[in-house]
Amino acid sequence: MWEQLRDEGGINGRQVLIYKRLNSTNTTALNLSAEGAPPGTVVAADSQSAGRGRLGRKWQSPPGLGLYFSIISRPRLGLSDLMKITLTAGLALRTAIFATSALETELKWPNDILWRGKKMAGILTECGAASEKGRAVIIGIGLNVNSGPDDFPAEMGRRGVSMRMAAERFYDRGLILTAVTEAVEREVKRLESGAFAAILRDWRRWDASAGRQLTWLKPDGMPVCGISLGPDENGLLRIKDNTGRIHQVISGDLRLRDDGTDNN
Ligand code: BTN
Repeated sequence: MWEQLRDEGGINGRQVLIYKRLNSTNTTALNLSAEGAPPGTVVAADSQSAGRGRLGRKWQSPPGLGLYFSIISRPRLGLSDLMKITLTAGLALRTAIFATSALETELKWPNDILWRGKKMAGILTECGAASEKGRAVIIGIGLNVNSGPDDFPAEMGRRGVSMRMAAERFYDRGLILTAVTEAVEREVKRLESGAFAAILRDWRRWDASAGRQLTWLKPDGMPVCGISLGPDENGLLRIKDNTGRIHQVISGDLRLRDDGTDNN
């Protein structure tokens, strides 16, 4: 798959850098953006030795099975818009998965793509340093494409799923990389044009948590139990706790309570 993208000169003229193995495509993308890499540059690796997830978790990245890549973006947006970018990228990823496989996935705030409650993909958005060109935002995406049930780490139990497992067929990772990259670029343009309210409306259609009981583990480890009211107009999650108080969630771990399958 990689060779084909190289031969064809990237994705729609975008620079696509493909590596056999990296520590983390996000780290390489952050370094390249500091050196002035053009926006739209895609950094992909067949495997990662230190793939990162949210909340300091690892993202297992064995060769030949998944997509691990980072898009360098320089959106005309502020630092406070980072959450909006993550939600926008999630919607784009969902759209691209559906377009390439007809699989109906759901979105779990802020960055997970679920299929029947199991995790198919995750997004890690990180900010580069500000320069005269603006601030780079790295949109890192890990998507389980051709993994089988035994390819997930033991600690994940049965909570991971791939496109192959869901659709019972293998997929060409190059085609999916192209579809996701184009969808992310399209949606981020829409966000830059001020259409976050419309993006949020679309996002909410696929919200896996809305109206469901969940436990939010605050960054200090204290649990808050309540019902998800979905993201607000800034992309922050609102949870109504059992006393009726509404909390605004910026970060921390979220566990849906009804089925216990998607506690990532
Ligand atoms: C999460 O679910 O917590 C986010 C996972 C993001 C993983 C991707 S893989 C490509 C990119 N490089 C990284 O080190 N992480 C992201």
